[in-house]
Amino acid sequence: MSKGYSDVLIGTQFGDEGKARVIDVIGKNYDIIARFNGGPNAGHTIETKKGRIVLHQIPSGIFYPKTILYIGSGCVLNIEKLSKEISDIENFGVKLGKRLRISSQASIIQPHHILVDGITGKTIGTTKNGIGPAYADKALRIDGDRLLNIRMGDLLENEEYFLKAITTNLEHTLKTCQITDFDTTEFIKNFRKSFALVKQYIEKDTLFLNKQAENGKKILFEGAQSFMLDITRGIVPFVTSSNTMAGSAYVGGDLSPKFHRKTIGIAKAIMSRVGNGPFVSEYGGLRSEKYCMEDEGHRNTKEKESKLNVAAMLFSNDLFDLGRALRLLGNEYGASTGRPRRVGMLDFIQLKYAVLANGIDELWINKCDLLTDFTKTKCKKIPVVVEYQLGNGKIDYVPSSDETCRKIKPVIEYKTCFSGDISKIKSFAKLPKPLTTLLLDLERSVGCKLLGVGVGAKRDQFVLREK
Ligand code: IMP
Repeated sequence: MSKGYSDVLIGTQFGDEGKARVIDVIGKNYDIIARFNGGPNAGHTIETKKGRIVLHQIPSGIFYPKTILYIGSGCVLNIEKLSKEISDIENFGVKLGKRLRISSQASIIQPHHILVDGITGKTIGTTKNGIGPAYADKALRIDGDRLLNIRMGDLLENEEYFLKAITTNLEHTLKTCQITDFDTTEFIKNFRKSFALVKQYIEKDTLFLNKQAENGKKILFEGAQSFMLDITRGIVPFVTSSNTMAGSAYVGGDLSPKFHRKTIGIAKAIMSRVGNGPFVSEYGGLRSEKYCMEDEGHRNTKEKESKLNVAAMLFSNDLFDLGRALRLLGNEYGASTGRPRRVGMLDFIQLKYAVLANGIDELWINKCDLLTDFTKTKCKKIPVVVEYQLGNGKIDYVPSSDETCRKIKPVIEYKTCFSGDISKIKSFAKLPKPLTTLLLDLERSVGCKLLGVGVGAKRDQFVLREK
């Protein structure tokens, strides 16, 4: 039997590019879909005839009944949320059975991680899922006689001992942070119940994926959180706490890199970002960033914005209003948190940077149907960022610091717009000419073949180009 191979799919922007829906389309070509980073901070949405389902910790291949869903050691897991996600998926009519495998080396998000993230994650605007503190404890390993990094396999081997260790860590945080309203007994009760469901999925064989690939299986790695949020290569500190880059699939995904075949990048035609941090092409700049972050905790921006006059905002000279209108029309509100996403122009420089840094071989671009909204703007054109001006010079990369990023002046080019419903179009040649011109321009600028074009939100609303 010939050996299998693995492909890696990542988001090329700041997240929420529609990775899950691409996986839902190409998933049939693979035997295994595997996660390698992050945890419940991810929100991967799939629209189906029965309604929408949002996956947080489980890989997006759930609708392929024979596909194995693997959660790698590089992930951090919330057991209670995972147990609920499993039940929700089964209630949706999807059988997981033996298909779900969870690495015994994946670390557990403990309750004190969530409490600490709630206190320390405000400036970054984290999802408050305890991601940063969980990865920090993984790196710290041990503090005196307190064991900090507790993994799925540890609990499986000795549930009582490691649950005690989790409780000790919790009590330590409750004491140091002077938290008095946490019900530890209730937590232990719920945790035991959740783990009783989850433990059947833990994979003890640390060479599981390697053996599958040796036996001819095809694996697709599903990145979470996207390249621009990488803990090392993103704009620190406004990043997540894991490595999101394509190469890290072969660390947190538990497979040797010798099986790598190609890297797939996902982008969307109108960019977005949640949380704080620089965003060169943002409509309304700093004002938009502050406005979106004000919603922290209230989560009512969507309701407020749905009452505004969208047509007037689209036609406004004020880019902040244009951004608000595009957010509403594109339903850019967090799948995990409901937070408003900051919205910006498609940025060719940022995308080229992602393509080069990750070695992207093929690109998919979602939400191209939303570009028709620009016909209702004052200039009736689609703005895209084509150059970065920094001081008196030009740069062709995203700088590593917050301060320098905020000094960049984007050079904007206005592309011809198009109108009409494109969601039923099935071939690239039949797309409106201004759209194909824009996409071919993008392909040339970023130096990577464009393979898929999202023309609507439904599962089959994609135009695929032959290779
Ligand atoms: P954390 O990953 O919860 O620590 O959050 C760190 C930053 O990454 C914040 O700006 C979050 O909004 C952002 N982030 C985390 N997960 C996602 C995601 O799945 N999509 C988009 N942004 C995310």
